[in-house]
Amino acid sequence: MHFKDIQRVPGDPILGLIEAYANDTNPAKFDLGVGVYKDSQGLTTIPRAVKLAEQRLADTQLTKTYIGGHGEPRFGALLSEMVLGTDSPLLAARRVGATQTPGGTGALRLVGEFIAQCLPGKGIWLSDPTWPIHESIFNKVGLKVSHYPYVGADNRLNIEGMLDTLRQVPEGDVVLLHACCHNPTGFDLSHEQWQQVLEIVRSRNLLPLIDFAYQGFGDGLEQDAWAVRLFAAALPELLITSSCSKNFGLYRERTGALIVTAGDAEKLADVRSQLANIARNLWSNPPDHGAAVVAEILGDAELKSLWVEEVEEMRQRIAQLRIGLVEALTPLGLGERFAHIARQRGMFSYTGISDEQVARLRHEHSVYMVNAGRANIAGIDASRLDQLAQAIAAVCKG
Ligand code: LMR
Repeated sequence: MHFKDIQRVPGDPILGLIEAYANDTNPAKFDLGVGVYKDSQGLTTIPRAVKLAEQRLADTQLTKTYIGGHGEPRFGALLSEMVLGTDSPLLAARRVGATQTPGGTGALRLVGEFIAQCLPGKGIWLSDPTWPIHESIFNKVGLKVSHYPYVGADNRLNIEGMLDTLRQVPEGDVVLLHACCHNPTGFDLSHEQWQQVLEIVRSRNLLPLIDFAYQGFGDGLEQDAWAVRLFAAALPELLITSSCSKNFGLYRERTGALIVTAGDAEKLADVRSQLANIARNLWSNPPDHGAAVVAEILGDAELKSLWVEEVEEMRQRIAQLRIGLVEALTPLGLGERFAHIARQRGMFSYTGISDEQVARLRHEHSVYMVNAGRANIAGIDASRLDQLAQAIAAVCKG
């Protein structure tokens, strides 16, 4: 038998929760697992701007032929503007190229292969902790993966530890930074701290890779791009992975891009030739539908302003849920202990709840969250905040 030596591996710790939650028959269950936004009805609906764009595409799209290795140029140009700012001098200087990818994860895989093949000997540095898929993707492509401290056992941002370690990173290595809404912790850097990171990156000649999966979910679409734009303006070369999964609600359509800035248009063409070659061997052509929807929205003033409103609605709802959860925990004597939840940004919170408590929350209260106490705040049902707070109190105090 050919398959006889194949062993079973454990399921994905985040995606596995989708099934476990679905199979739980308790009607009072809570889904704080996978990073998916839910509205006040508990539904992950399709944004209205996306629906309208899809209708337009259904009426006007004439072909489903291949779109080429870098994807649809209009999508790449519009997304680059969204990320770097419409007035970015880099765009005018033709120093920016976007390669459409199957989601932000596809962009990460593409950039991992690119580093492994085109920057031989260079390692990559990830925050500790980081999104688990960062670890596995860069390990699978054969890169040397190292870590800089980010959030310690005291559940606080360890900026001094981060800066100290970055000062020791070998020249030329790649440093992965989260643009905003850090996954899994929700702790973001201040502007001043970003400046400090930039100074080290510049003086040690490091290559930043900025993962930008939650634009619009932190402080706003423009505000969240602050660090990306700071780095793009200050450094000749930059790698950015951008995702449209959350802010456009396009999760399963797998829509994202790897955006590269290079010293000049000629060098950019060299880099892009390599990316096209790698992409051809990974997925040949990227999927089109989600990117076509995004291009339709960003390229149309009316659809764009509707979408901007919808992203803002989602952002504000998450911010209110953060405050609401802390308020619900306060009468239970836990307000101070969990005050950081209101200060964190984006979908996720490192709550400080231990693995053992996460297991008890799941088994005794049907509250599903990822290990290390990561809660998807965007999945909370606002009408049951008190019930959630009581469940947390039961495992944290008992
Ligand atoms: C998450 O971290 O929950 C999301 O980014 C979804 C995923 O693919 O893991």
